[in-house]
Amino acid sequence: MPVFVFDAYGTLFDVHAAIARHRDAVGPDADRLSELWRTKQLEYTWTLTLAGRFVDFWTLTERALDHALARCPSVDPKLRPTLLDAYRVLDAYPDAVAALAALKEGGKRTAILSNGTFRMLASAVEGAGLGPHLDAVLSVESVGVYKPRPEVYRLVVDTFAVTPAEVVFVSSNRWDVMGAAAFGFRPVWINRADQPEEYHDLAPRYRLSSLADLPRLAAGDPM
Ligand code: 2OP
Repeated sequence: MPVFVFDAYGTLFDVHAAIARHRDAVGPDADRLSELWRTKQLEYTWTLTLAGRFVDFWTLTERALDHALARCPSVDPKLRPTLLDAYRVLDAYPDAVAALAALKEGGKRTAILSNGTFRMLASAVEGAGLGPHLDAVLSVESVGVYKPRPEVYRLVVDTFAVTPAEVVFVSSNRWDVMGAAAFGFRPVWINRADQPEEYHDLAPRYRLSSLADLPRLAAGDPM
């Protein structure tokens, strides 16, 4: 019986929702600020992990916003606390709750595996009402390294006592799909933005444009 494991930020939760909620106050550089915020947040996870260091994801989220604000001088830096508060309770994508609920109704086990701190994940899960549809919320905080290090993906096999091949790993981040494929999971790439393919030798098993098709795929396919 496969376990369905979801990446959090970008897959279940819309990382651009914090800025979108305050778009008028942020002004014309809103999209640039949001892109820089996300790009730097991820870059810090990779560079620190390569350097053998760990700083928690909330602190990196704050540092990334500070960098993005410094690069977008048109944005009022006094918005910092407001934007960070919005990041704590990001909107879930509209298809996220329904997909998780349908998988649970179909008897599947479900979990989140994320770079996020336990605290960040608890508040995002609660805000979006995902809690009843999840068997576990797993964080890199338990291992002190970031995705795509194999120690992170191993948290799933240790928690559920399954083999990697029994794990269907769902992510919209192509580099996370790469890491999951390298670990031996069965990855599903949610390619919401119709991005071109990368990491050809570590490919997803399925490519979907949203989470909406996932339960149908799971029901019709032993996966
Ligand atoms: C997550 O682990 C990669 O940010 C993404 O939730």
